[in-house]
Amino acid sequence: MIFPIFFTFVLLLSTSHAADFCVGDLKAPESPAGYSCKKAEKVTVDDFVFSGLGVAGNTSNIIKAAVTPAFAAQFPGVNGLGISLARLDLASGGVIPFHTHPGASEVLLVTQGSIVAGFISSANSVYYKTLKKGDIMVFPQGLLHFQLNGGGYPATAFVSFSSPSPGLQILDFALFKNDLPTSLVAATTFLDVAQIKKLKGVLGGTN
Ligand SMILES: *[C@@H]1O[C@H](CO)[C@@H](O)[C@H](O)[C@H]1NC(C)=O
Repeated sequence: MIFPIFFTFVLLLSTSHAADFCVGDLKAPESPAGYSCKKAEKVTVDDFVFSGLGVAGNTSNIIKAAVTPAFAAQFPGVNGLGISLARLDLASGGVIPFHTHPGASEVLLVTQGSIVAGFISSANSVYYKTLKKGDIMVFPQGLLHFQLNGGGYPATAFVSFSSPSPGLQILDFALFKNDLPTSLVAATTFLDVAQIKKLKGVLGGTN
């Protein structure tokens, strides 16, 4: 009589312990369901801490912007928890061009400067606003959205996601930073060939 109760108790203890978290094993490949779990005895507090969001990213690039992610690939403690965070730095004139996160909704918090942010719904309704320090805006999962610093000084924001691996597809990169023949890009976007070739040149596309 005692033994079955004892074994049930031990089983309950071990299963509840195992379900607390699933720190990502970054040495294994990531699947759509996330990383496999690191062995519990190898987990340390540093798996649950990410340092680096206190430093501005390098905005000396074509978009004058930098994203510093703390996703599962950088911050294994969020693996399996349905959340992650990133820092966004925009120099004056900087832009995160139209993009989507296939796997997550996003909340953006402006902590410095001002940012024009917006998204387009599936019905092609436009929602955009100039956000200032302390404002937050939500971008529903999968929808195309952008962030632009129209102000004369740097802007900073922190963005949280409803996934440890939100994914990122940048519209212009998808259209112009690959080897899809220009004739096909033109036929499928109604854009002029000259404009397509120009953008392929700027972004590194071919054909
Ligand atoms: C920022 O990036 C640019 C271009 O890659 C590079 O020349 C520059 O040294 C970087 N600045 C810092 C502070 O890392």
